Amino acid sequence: MKNIKSVAILLLLLTNNISNAEDDPRLLVQMPEMMQQHMLSNMRDHLNTLNEIIANMADGKLDKASDIAEQRLGMSSLESHGASHLAQYMPDAMQQAGTNMHHAASRFALKLQEGDVKSSLNAFSEVTSACVACHASYRIR
Ligand code: HEC
Repeated sequence: MKNIKSVAILLLLLTNNISNAEDDPRLLVQMPEMMQQHMLSNMRDHLNTLNEIIANMADGKLDKASDIAEQRLGMSSLESHGASHLAQYMPDAMQQAGTNMHHAASRFALKLQEGDVKSSLNAFSEVTSACVACHASYRIR
């Protein structure tokens, strides 16, 4: 019983620590509620896109994966994501992180067209690294 209690207290301390905003090293970027919703919906679409790309690559459909990467994550996707509208709320370095991700996605799309899976995967990991880099530094809520 005593053990269970100490484990419970330990868990409480650990989770409390994780959710404590004061210890969160990410910079809080403030924007109107509507823009937050818009940005998060873009983000969920980004994750969907990665999912579709992987499925197409696994099916050997590299051309299809390339189209998806360019149209939904690459430089061609900026307008459909309302990027310029969102960017005005972001600090310069965050805008740069976004641009890095879009450039990496366009490079990845080109690699896929060359048809080599190994080098495409290398380029793909540059895309996901760009996602990770921005997430490590910023939050909006
Ligand atoms: C320019 C910065 C930036 C880039 C690049 C970026 N994200 Fe995000 N993403 C964020 C921020 C900021 C949040 C919100 C974090 C918070 O405050 O909870 C977020 C949230 C998310 C969420 C959660 C959405 C929700 O509804 O809560 C997902 C999923 C996500 N991102 C996926 C991705 C993927 C996949 C990529 C890369 C293809 C990516 N993001 C690239 C900044 C970025």
